[in-house]
Amino acid sequence: MRNKSKKKKFEILEGVRIEDMVAEGKCLARHDNMVIFVAGVAPGDVVDLRVTRKKKKFYEAEPVHFHELSELRVQPFCEHFGTCGGCKWQHIGYDTQLYFKQKQVKDNLERIGKVPLPEFDPILGSEKTRYYRNKLEYTFSNTSWLTKEQIQSGQEFDRDALGFHIPGRFDKILDIKHCYLQPDPSNAIRLEVRKYAKEHDLPFFDIVKQEGYMRNLIIRTANTGETMVIVQVYEDRPEAMQALMEHLAATFPEITSLQYVVNSKGNETFHDLEVVCYKGLPYIHEEMEGIRFRVGPKSFYQTNADQAYELYKKTRELANLTGNELVYDLYTGAGTIANFVAKQALEVIGIEYVPSAIEDAKINSQINDITNTTFYAGDMKDILSDELIERHGRPDVVITDPPRAGMHEDVVQKLLQVHPNRIVYVSCNPATQARDVEWLSEKYEVTRVQPVDMFPQTHHVENIVLLTAK
Ligand SMILES: C[S@@+](CC[C@H](N)C(=O)[O-])C[C@H]1O[C@@H](n2cnc3c(N)ncnc32)[C@H](O)[C@@H]1O
Repeated sequence: MRNKSKKKKFEILEGVRIEDMVAEGKCLARHDNMVIFVAGVAPGDVVDLRVTRKKKKFYEAEPVHFHELSELRVQPFCEHFGTCGGCKWQHIGYDTQLYFKQKQVKDNLERIGKVPLPEFDPILGSEKTRYYRNKLEYTFSNTSWLTKEQIQSGQEFDRDALGFHIPGRFDKILDIKHCYLQPDPSNAIRLEVRKYAKEHDLPFFDIVKQEGYMRNLIIRTANTGETMVIVQVYEDRPEAMQALMEHLAATFPEITSLQYVVNSKGNETFHDLEVVCYKGLPYIHEEMEGIRFRVGPKSFYQTNADQAYELYKKTRELANLTGNELVYDLYTGAGTIANFVAKQALEVIGIEYVPSAIEDAKINSQINDITNTTFYAGDMKDILSDELIERHGRPDVVITDPPRAGMHEDVVQKLLQVHPNRIVYVSCNPATQARDVEWLSEKYEVTRVQPVDMFPQTHHVENIVLLTAK
């Protein structure tokens, strides 16, 4: 009996042609009328698949042998491709990535949204397809991930690592030699911190035993040229920290904000901990159209800043502001969209869950002399109340940019009740956006669809939908 189930689990399906790229970066294939989701392949590949999971309606599988390679494939440029979880679509050319991202948006709106759709605006590709991120977070570990080849070689390897988590493994870190996601001096700083820690016997963190010193490194590079570095350590060792900070300040004079955190908690989050600024200012600035956004160690800012500017310009264009509109910016984060559109609106109300983000939003209005914004912190479904609408008035335009889960049903109901003329719906998850669009279709029609690519080499896609009151 046991043998039978084991055999079933590892069933091999031979000569399967991969058909499509679908959600979460997986590809889709079919075998005997069963849908199969496969990672690490490309549409057009012909492969033998090992079934790793069987569900009633679909299987999951991994490729074990390639018979034919797709014409859509290109040579990945990063030595860590295939092991690192960062850029899983590097084996597909950028134009093809864009094609499949746009298709994903269309499929979701058609299948889940089930609403009449206008012709799509072509997906806005990112000019930079490498070195486009302004923030990376690296983890230290004393149990570096070893590849199959490394294990088979029988050699001894340095087990200290500073890099990214292996997908699905909380305890394994891939040591990164070069990362193509963030511009200089990101790689140089990471390599220097690693070298310094090794030379000065600062132990890399052991996540299982919860011991060690060097824990985490965050590097933020802003489009103003300012750079923030935050070193997280497990325990307070003032002398060691002083020496490390001095070394970094001297080696990288371009660091304008050098900070550290002592974090003895079970996890790496530090939103509830003091961040000590060793050198420079405790924040950096991003800039768009002369508006400066202050970004502190705990602040959220869109990670592809150049493409965020394109996204916001499109959002503003679709909002079609003339200067007379009352705009509500829902899920405003640090008030970036609210402040960006404020000049073209009469008044902007921003709402966001995280209180510190709302503090940032207010500061960002102040430092830019923007006086027609008001911000509220709290859960959207509670804050967007009849009382709030009474106080500020019925919005002419709502801009909404919810998290991946989409909008709470109560929030959608409230929008249907308040009935603004236009809703500009920005989303990082086409599936939940399509669900919300279907709910809103009771009183709205979709008049524009504009997919935007914020994250080249990954499966992620952003999409803007303009909903116009019927
Ligand atoms: C995709 S981000 C939007 C960021 C912002 N529009 C920008 O471009 O920088 C979604 C935001 O929604 C906030 N959020 C998540 N759940 C929320 C809720 N229930 N109520 C209010 N805000 C929420 C998150 O904290 C996050 O800042």
